[in-house]
Amino acid sequence: AGDYDLVVVANRLPVDRVTEADGTTAWRRSPGGLVTALEPVMQREDGAWVGWAGSPGDPPEPFDAEGVRCVPIGLSETEVEEYYEGFSNGTLWPLYHDVIVAPDYHRRWWESYVRVNRRFAERAAEQAAERATVWVQDYQLQLVPQMLRELRPDLHIGFFNHIPFPPFEIFAQLPWRAAIIDGLLGADLVGFQRAADAANFTRACRRAKGLPARSGRIRLDAEGGREVRAASFPISIDFRALSDLAQTEGVKARAAEIRRDLGDPQFVLLGIDRLDYTKGIPHRLKAFEELLADEKVQASEAALVQVATPSRERVEQYVQLRQDVEVIVGRINGTHSTIAHRAVHYLHHSYDKEEMAALFLAADVMLVTALRDGMNLVAKEYVAARHDERGVLVLSEFTGAADEFGQALLVNPHDIDGLKETVVRALRMSPREAGRRMRALRRRVQEHDVQRWATTFLQALEEHAGTRGIES
Ligand code: G6P
Repeated sequence: AGDYDLVVVANRLPVDRVTEADGTTAWRRSPGGLVTALEPVMQREDGAWVGWAGSPGDPPEPFDAEGVRCVPIGLSETEVEEYYEGFSNGTLWPLYHDVIVAPDYHRRWWESYVRVNRRFAERAAEQAAERATVWVQDYQLQLVPQMLRELRPDLHIGFFNHIPFPPFEIFAQLPWRAAIIDGLLGADLVGFQRAADAANFTRACRRAKGLPARSGRIRLDAEGGREVRAASFPISIDFRALSDLAQTEGVKARAAEIRRDLGDPQFVLLGIDRLDYTKGIPHRLKAFEELLADEKVQASEAALVQVATPSRERVEQYVQLRQDVEVIVGRINGTHSTIAHRAVHYLHHSYDKEEMAALFLAADVMLVTALRDGMNLVAKEYVAARHDERGVLVLSEFTGAADEFGQALLVNPHDIDGLKETVVRALRMSPREAGRRMRALRRRVQEHDVQRWATTFLQALEEHAGTRGIES
């Protein structure tokens, strides 16, 4: 057994190893919401974090970063292609997001997924102290709970799925569906974003495995009646930190500067997403384009800022999406921009926290139009940044956040006319109504922040695993 009482296992470490232009290596914060969510928790607990350093090759030695003990896992070039880009992001990602694009099923990718999951499980087993808690994260590592239980039956094992868990009719396509269920059932507690995801999982246990499962409890008769709990734990953000950051003079001044640089338009609309086909970026651009064409919104008085963070750039469907988005942006700007004013500011970059906070503060309307999203932390970040209680959030019904955000303007992004009407409504909303809605949204995130998410999950895990006793 190792030294750590809390071990987080995630595909990525909180920092990525990157090679600079001059050939030297440096560490940079990893992309995605997972790091944002777990970092504050890990800094409080004296925990270890097992994960991949984000580039192929031999793993570096364990090190400390962002206040966390980091234990790197190595992936070969082939494993990056087969386990990460292939099975994780070419099979599971589209399958779990309502098959927005068609998943690819390759036996070689699956074999690599099994092999790499075993490596993560072995590494986690080495780090964990006797009876420690191990918290496995997300769809890339669904086999780890079972593998870990075989290696270390003394551990308390939790799993949290950050993305949706699909209805059985979709999940059933997966040739390895039974093995995935077995993998997850190695955990004591399996957590999901929404109650609907937990229900889909429970149903998959019944349908794929014939297990007795109801109201979030799955009984394993083959293991002496051991019970696995499945429940929802909607993830959140560090509300206080972002709300405070957005109130600093530097960020406020930068927000004003952004509006000036945009030419002081009457309306600033904003989208911030990883460049991913689940985010509904073309849908939102199309709605904006039609509003300009119909002159429901005057091109001279509005600017749309779309930050699209580069993501999974070697996966085919992402290459296609980038081309599609760039064609639409080019068309809108060709038609509606002037020398003095640009209609769409498309930024294929990632930005630091300060710049993001300033963008949030500068935006009158935030557009979150995902076609399917486990939670969508950007929606919560927008709300946290708006300490001035201004700004309107337009939010897709198909995000986990919509379950909590009744006071946002909810939309079906497939319904372009409905989306256009909602955007106009957001732009014309009285400051009074906008303020009332924003206050309610802020209260929700303030009371349900990421600290509460982690504590609630870990408490539920201890309660459930604690009653199981030690089987070794
Ligand atoms: C989503 C997933 C995370 C993932 C992140 C970034 O938020 O739930 O597990 O880390 O996207 O994607 P990437 O493939 O770059 O890690």
